[in-house]
Amino acid sequence: MDKLLITGGIPLSGEIRISGAKNAALPILAATLLAETSSYVNNVPHLQDVTTMMNLLGRMGVELIVDEKLNIQADSNRVHTFAAPYELVKTMRASVLVLGPLLARFGEAHVSLPGGCAIGSRPVNLHIQGLTAMGADIQVENGYISAKAKRLHGAKIFMDLVTVTGTENLMMAATLAEGTTILENAAREPEVIDLAKCLISMGAKIEGVGSDTLHIEGVEKLSGTHYSILPDRIETGTYLVAAAMTGGHIKLKDTDPSLLDAVLQKLTEIGAYITTGDSWIELDMRGQRPQAVDIYTSPYPAFPTDMQAQFTALNSIADGVATITETVFENRFMHALELQRMGAKIRLEGNMAIIKGVPRLQAAPVMATDLRASASLVLAGLVADGDTVIERIYHIDRGYERIEEKLSQLGAKIRRIRY
Ligand code: UD1
Repeated sequence: MDKLLITGGIPLSGEIRISGAKNAALPILAATLLAETSSYVNNVPHLQDVTTMMNLLGRMGVELIVDEKLNIQADSNRVHTFAAPYELVKTMRASVLVLGPLLARFGEAHVSLPGGCAIGSRPVNLHIQGLTAMGADIQVENGYISAKAKRLHGAKIFMDLVTVTGTENLMMAATLAEGTTILENAAREPEVIDLAKCLISMGAKIEGVGSDTLHIEGVEKLSGTHYSILPDRIETGTYLVAAAMTGGHIKLKDTDPSLLDAVLQKLTEIGAYITTGDSWIELDMRGQRPQAVDIYTSPYPAFPTDMQAQFTALNSIADGVATITETVFENRFMHALELQRMGAKIRLEGNMAIIKGVPRLQAAPVMATDLRASASLVLAGLVADGDTVIERIYHIDRGYERIEEKLSQLGAKIRRIRY
C-alpha cells in the first residue's frame, strides 16, 4: 500500500487547476444508464472512485470509451446485468446511485447494502422508502436491496433528512416514472444541481432545481447528452486551507467561487485575503498565522461536512480556541485522534471538537481513515516539524486527483512511496 511522505514548513505558493467534482461525476455517470443513446461526459476527475463507478457500469454491460483526458463516452444499450455486487459497493458507497436508474429504465435492480463506514452508520432507508412510494417492490435480504417495478409512478415524497445521494437516486428514478414526482426537503448541493442540469440536457423535465422542492414530470425516454462536470468545491476548499495553514499565497484556476460562499467566509474570518474571478480564487495569508474559527456543519448552502476535517487541522495550529460542531455524520472525528498524535490539542465531546491551537505540530506516522480525514492529515503534515508519513492513502486517491503532484507544484515537499 502506498504512503505519503511530507516534510512540513514550506508556505505554499503558485497556481494549480482544480479538477471536476467527484460527487457530481459519480451520479452523472450512473445517470448514463437512463439514456437510450450514447452520452459524452467531460471534465471527469481521475480518481479511484470514478474507476470504481466505471467498473460497476462496465460489468452491467455499459460500453465505455475513455480518451486520454478521461472524457467518457457511455452507451447503455446493451446492459445485461442489473446488479451492484458487494465487492464494489463496499469500496464505494456511492455505488448505490445505480439503484434508481436501473429500476427506472430496466425495471429491476439488485444492489448490495452499503453498510456502515468510518464516519457513521449511513443508512439508505430514505432511498428505499422513496422508491417504494413510487411503486417499487423492494426486498432487503442477504445484504442486498432487490427491487422490481413494471414502471415506476410519480409520488409526493418528503425526505425526513436532507440526503444528497438519496435526492439524486429518487430524482433519476422519477425522470422515467409515469406522472409527476414531488421531492420535498431535497438536497440543494451544487452536485445535485449539476446532475439535474445533466438530466434536463437528456430530456428530463425537472422544475425547482436549486430549491428544496423538486417537481419531476416523468418522460417516456431520455437520450444521450454532452455534459461537462462542474469544478470540485471540496478540492478547491482543501487547497485554500493548505495555503492558509502554511501562511502561503496561491491561485486556483478552473474553479467556481460561487460554490464556496460558506467556506470563503470562514477563510476571511481566519485572516486570509481572498480575491475571486468567475473561474478562479486567490488566497494570500501574507505570512500570518490563522485565527481560530468556529465551524458548524449542515447541508448546503451552510458549511459542508466534507470541509470539516480540513478546518479541524487548521484550527489545530490557529491562534485561539475553536469549536467544531458536526451535525451531518455521527462519527466524523477519526482525524482528531490522529491529529492529537501530531501534538494537536483537541477535546472531543459528542458531536463537538474543542480545539486549542498550538504554534506548531510535530511530524508523526499517521493513518488515513476516510477520504476527508486523510486530507486533514496531509494539511497537518504540511505545517508539522519533520517528516510525516501517512499510511492507507488509498482513501486520498478516492477523492483527490494527483494530490502530491498538485501540492509539489505549489512548492510543498511531498512524495509518494510506492509499495
Ligand atoms: C454525500 C456525499 C458526501 C457528503 C455527504 C453530505 C456523494 C457521493 N457523497 O454522501 O461526500 O459527505 O453527501 O454532504 O455525493 N441518511 C439517512 N438515511 C438515508 C440517507 C441518509 O439517515 O437514507 C443520513 C446519513 O446517515 C447522514 C445524513 O443523512 O447522517 C446525510 O447523508 P447523505 O446526504 O445521504 O450522504 P451521502 O449522500 O451518502
